[in-house]
Amino acid sequence: MAKLTILEFPDPRLRKKARPVEAVDDALRATIDDMFETMYAAPGIGLAATQVDIHKRFLVADVSSDQSDPRVFINPVIVEKDGVTVTEEGCLSVPGYYEEVKRADTIRLKYLDRNGEVHEENLDGMLAVCVQHEIDHLDGKLFVDYISEAKRTRIRKRLEKDRRHQAAAVSA
Ligand code: NI
Repeated sequence: MAKLTILEFPDPRLRKKARPVEAVDDALRATIDDMFETMYAAPGIGLAATQVDIHKRFLVADVSSDQSDPRVFINPVIVEKDGVTVTEEGCLSVPGYYEEVKRADTIRLKYLDRNGEVHEENLDGMLAVCVQHEIDHLDGKLFVDYISEAKRTRIRKRLEKDRRHQAAAVSA
């Protein structure tokens, strides 16, 4: 297993739209394991392939508090949405920022599991919010797209400044 590098806003690669996975094979399963390792190390509750510069439609999630519920969703499609919920969200690609986002409360999701088998499942609570957030990533969308442009620009400038400081620190 290997830890992968997580792209950070405003990296343009986060804006690419991911393509469907064509084969659920050992190579994909190895990447999925790496994504779990990366997500748990961060730590985070969800990670989309787009965030590690892989532009295929799959994501991993674990909303438990003790890493006991690892979930993989390949080629996820929301077939039904119901209700509204507002959650304070963060993102491993926008470190240090949290904003309230309005999403569906319950979703019905069609997806493939790590063996390539098709499932249709109702999700609610934190997992439903997380999966909607990660599917946005696969479509090149970030949670900061839901807030005002002024706020988004402020976050971008702050993150760029942080990164310049980090670069100066390692080159010193
Ligand atoms: Ni995210």
